[in-house]
Amino acid sequence: MKLIARVNRSPKGLRYFQLYLWTVLLFTVAVIISGDIVQATESGAGCGDSWPKCDGTLIPAFADVHMAIEFVHRMLTSVLSFGYFGLLIGGYVLFGRRHRVWPSILASTAILVVEILLGAALVFFGWVEDNASWGRVIADSFHVVNTLALLGSLVLIIFLSRADNETLVTKQNPKRRYLIFAMLTVILITVTGTINSLADTLYLSDHVVVEETPIAQLLVSVRAIHPLVAIIGGFAIIGLLYLVLEEPSVQKSILGFAVVGVIFLQVLSGVFNIALLTPVEIQIIHLGLADALWILLVFFSLHNWKALVSNYS
Ligand code: HEM
Repeated sequence: MKLIARVNRSPKGLRYFQLYLWTVLLFTVAVIISGDIVQATESGAGCGDSWPKCDGTLIPAFADVHMAIEFVHRMLTSVLSFGYFGLLIGGYVLFGRRHRVWPSILASTAILVVEILLGAALVFFGWVEDNASWGRVIADSFHVVNTLALLGSLVLIIFLSRADNETLVTKQNPKRRYLIFAMLTVILITVTGTINSLADTLYLSDHVVVEETPIAQLLVSVRAIHPLVAIIGGFAIIGLLYLVLEEPSVQKSILGFAVVGVIFLQVLSGVFNIALLTPVEIQIIHLGLADALWILLVFFSLHNWKALVSNYS
């Protein structure tokens, strides 16, 4: 197997694998956004309580638009799962089981399985549409953290399978703890954003009387937390990146500047979200930017987890 791996790890093979990985990463973002559309349009129960079938059949009759939206989201998830078969086969053939790319592919696949099971749990337990329960709050929060883990694992695979990965001489970067703080801050902001989004869904639902539903009332009353945490957190991330960028050995500083740019755009889209009463279009832009911020930050952190020895002071 080792021989096969070495023979197949040609620059061309690696290039195709990288292209494939980028496609899977972008497709994953599309699946996440389609999941957001499901929540924003209250289509979570569009397929009834059957899973993995939709409305009891493989291809439903599309009784209404909610069913179509939920069905498309499930289809995209299935396509992504098939994409992971390609990832497993390609990774095994190119790198074999002994290369560190392989455990990262296995971890990413496990995270995808958890993601699918969490989606199924939302349907089984009825944590969709106008449901206001602690179970839904916890499941939604866990779901979004798992989503970030899924994106992060794909970024890690892309990073580890680059052709030049093993040729650089590096040592531990003393600033790496700032990168961990920055990533934890994005996770915290994202979880508060998800809870904010759930609060808005309940607030705007025709079937929920917020004043008579204690959990909905609580969630709606703490909606200011997300913008507050995001603005303070945004400044904190910029400060932490500044400390990292000061390091002479820092690589790919363009990624650091891109992170700052996305934070700026994210604050802008957050303001529009509130001013325009969270239309689906702005929600999609806001979530897309949150994913872009996370992907860029993880790339930047991986590039600077170790410092290049030659530039190191
Ligand atoms: C780094 C900055 C930020 C990040 C990473 C972030 C992330 C998120 C995420 C992941 C969501 C959930 C999206 C969904 O599930 O639909 C969300 C929702 C939301 N965010 Fe932010 N956000 C940031 C900044 C802001 C700011 C500064 C504001 C306001 C000034 C804001 C206002 C909102 C609102 C109103 C929602 C709920 C939208 C809805 O009903 O779906 N965000 N945010």
